[in-house]
Amino acid sequence: MEISASLISELTRRAREAAEHAYAPYSNFPVGAAVLAQGGQIYAGANVENASYGLSICAERTAIFQAVAQGARSIHAIAVYTPTAAATPPCGACRQVMTEFGPDVLVICCCDDASAQRRYTLADLLPRAFSPRHL
Ligand code: THU
Repeated sequence: MEISASLISELTRRAREAAEHAYAPYSNFPVGAAVLAQGGQIYAGANVENASYGLSICAERTAIFQAVAQGARSIHAIAVYTPTAAATPPCGACRQVMTEFGPDVLVICCCDDASAQRRYTLADLLPRAFSPRHL
């Protein structure tokens, strides 16, 4: 699916906005994510940490689970925003969750410097992924 430039900028805007709600008192590393689901709906999320550090969850998974919990089953794109000089790529756990709902998802990594934006396909980020078809 071809995603227009205006939709990509809407996704990055929603991801940046979502980062404002990050709960990251331990890492001080706020992250926001926005998912474009089938049907064109956008779902956003932020990282949510916990005093028991291992229970923390990334922004990407928060946004994807938000989409799925509201009925979406397929995602076309996800924007990830961090207030850093360089764009941040998603962690391995989030890549695995992306593959469940969007094996061809477009991953847009962005920060405040528009020229630092990076776009990847999930196939680039997670080659030879384990997926439902292996079960
Ligand atoms: N984090 C994300 O939200 N997404 C990523 O892809 C990488 C890491 C969060 C987890 C934790 O709250 C903080 O960033 C530092 O690792």
